[in-house]
Parts: sequence; structure tokens; C-alpha cells
Amino acid sequence: MMAKPLSIKAACAAALLFVGVPAYAHAERIVSVGGSTTEIVYALGAGERLVGADTTSIYPAAADALPDVGYVRQLSAEGLLSLSPDLILAGGEAGPDTALAQTEAAGVRIVKLEEGFAPEDVYAHIAEVGAALGRDAEAAALNETLKQDMDRVLADVAKIEGRKPRVMFLLQAGRGGLLVAGSDTAAHAMIELAGGENPASTIKGYKPFSPEAATEAAPDILLVTDQTIEMLGGGEKLLADPALAATPAGKAKRIVSMDALYLAGFGPRLAHALRDLAAGFHPGAEIAPLPARPWTEAQ
Ligand code: HEM
Repeated sequence: MMAKPLSIKAACAAALLFVGVPAYAHAERIVSVGGSTTEIVYALGAGERLVGADTTSIYPAAADALPDVGYVRQLSAEGLLSLSPDLILAGGEAGPDTALAQTEAAGVRIVKLEEGFAPEDVYAHIAEVGAALGRDAEAAALNETLKQDMDRVLADVAKIEGRKPRVMFLLQAGRGGLLVAGSDTAAHAMIELAGGENPASTIKGYKPFSPEAATEAAPDILLVTDQTIEMLGGGEKLLADPALAATPAGKAKRIVSMDALYLAGFGPRLAHALRDLAAGFHPGAEIAPLPARPWTEAQ
């Protein structure tokens, strides 16, 4: 019996596979989990292929308006499958692994990025998302501009003289108490890149805040997210804690607050966030503003 000739569509798919383009590069029902992963999809001009995203996908506004599959660190297979995706793009923070494994077992392709908090990780994530979307050229162009912007900010930060400010990052997550960021966190990496020092770097990951730890850390600056301030009901609530109020940061009322995704997303807006953070840490230093980019101005 003669083999059935390939349809044009199937032949194209086979040809694309042959030249190394993933078969899912044309996925049209994509769910993105992880705020920075979603930002990359929009920055590469593929936002219209998203049918859903997670709770942390709050930028650009179009992402925030997508159907929500839940919090990126607490996903469920039911939530992910409910949108019948043909591809899931998952940031390194996406989990738990069981939810992702169940989703994959149900036949949905998942491209999972590896967690990492260095500029090189961001470039790699952009390239990987670009490849998954069939947008390699756009990803290369985005990376080139982002690298230029990073070089400018890091050069300005490198010129700053004097003692590095001790910066403690405090996070209100859910209904529990405040958490402190140790090493191996996005917040820690941002503090260091912006020319600060994390006095809680001996702990790994997030740990519950304790008054003793705050006293020992003696931070010059308290770094928080706008979402934490909102949950607490105002910045002054932080300083209602006597241990925090007694630190150098508390006495000088030095609180730096930024949107959580902008500050710790490690996405396409990394250079701009780093510039703003460095300016917040070093008010007297000359840290030139960066030109606006399409992915920093997206509506
Ligand atoms: C717009 C919504 C949210 C955004 C943008 C967001 C963003 C973030 C960011 C930036 C971090 C720090 C990551 C790092 O430094 O490595 C974080 C950590 C965390 N968030 Fe969220 N978050 C959101 C909502 C929530 C909600 C609703 C919960 C709880 C139900 C939550 C629980 C946590 C926990 C427990 C951590 C610490 C993670 C760890 O131990 O590694 N977040 N989140």
C-alpha cells in the first residue's frame, strides 16, 4: 500500500521540525505562569496568543486582564487544564512540581525555565521563550537592547564610592507574618546588583522575621514591595515594630518600596528596575535614567 501523501500543513510542520523549530512554536492557546515569563511573551509581541496567566502576571495591563489560573507557587492541574492550553510557559518559580507533572501527563506541553537570579539567566529565559514562540529574532533583538541597558546601569553602580548600604528586604506573603529575604532569592540578587549589601545573606531563601534578627542586621534601608505596604495598611505600620523602628533604617525612616514584579521579576524590565533601585539606595549618586523601551512602556 502506498503511503498517504503529507498534507501541506503536515509537510510544513515536518520541515520546521527538521530545521529545529519546536512543533509547539505555533501554539495559539498558551498559558503563561510567572509574571516575568508573561512579560517576555508580551515583549516579543506574542501576547495575543495567551489565553491565561497566573496571579503574578500583573504587567502589562493586558496580562492582568487574562483569565487567572492561580498563584504561580501554588498551581493546580485543574486550574491549568481548565483553559485547554496547547502550551504552558512556566517560570522557574512555578510549582508545585506535582501540579506541573499532572498537567504534562494530561498531554499538555510545558516549557519550564530554570530559576536563576543573574542577568544571564534573564537573557537565557528570553531566548528560550523566543524559541518556544518561534520568535528567535525578536528575542535576540530584545536581549541586545537589554544588555546595553544593563551595561549602562552596572557601570554607573560600579562608580559609586563609600560603604554599601545594608538593605533588608521584608515581604508580607499571604496571611502569615513578615518574611526576610536571605540569599538565593530575587530580592537578594537585586540588592547586590544595585550596590547594596543584604545583612540577612547568611540565611538561605525566605525566613520569618524576628526582632532579634532585625537588631542584629542593623539595616540602613528597609526594602519592601508596594503590595506588602498595601497589605500592611501603610509604610508607617512597618515602623510600629519597635525592633525595626530602632534600626538605623527605622530611625531615618528609610523605606524603599517598589512594585513586586518590577523589583523582583527578573524579566525584560530588569535594567530599568535596577536603575530605579540603585537611585533609591544612593540618592546622591549619578545614575542616569534609561531610555524608555516598548516593554517598559507597555499599556
Ligand atoms: C500580584 C501577586 C503577587 C506577586 C507579584 C508576588 C511576587 C512575589 C515576589 C517578587 C516574591 C519574592 C521572590 C524572591 O525574592 O525570590 C514572592 C515570594 C513569595 N510569595 Fe508572592 N506574589 C504575589 C502574591 C502572593 C500570594 C497571593 C501569596 C500567598 C498566598 C504569596 C506568597 C509568597 C511566598 C510564600 C513567597 C516566599 C517564597 C519563598 O519562600 O521562596 N505571594 N512573591
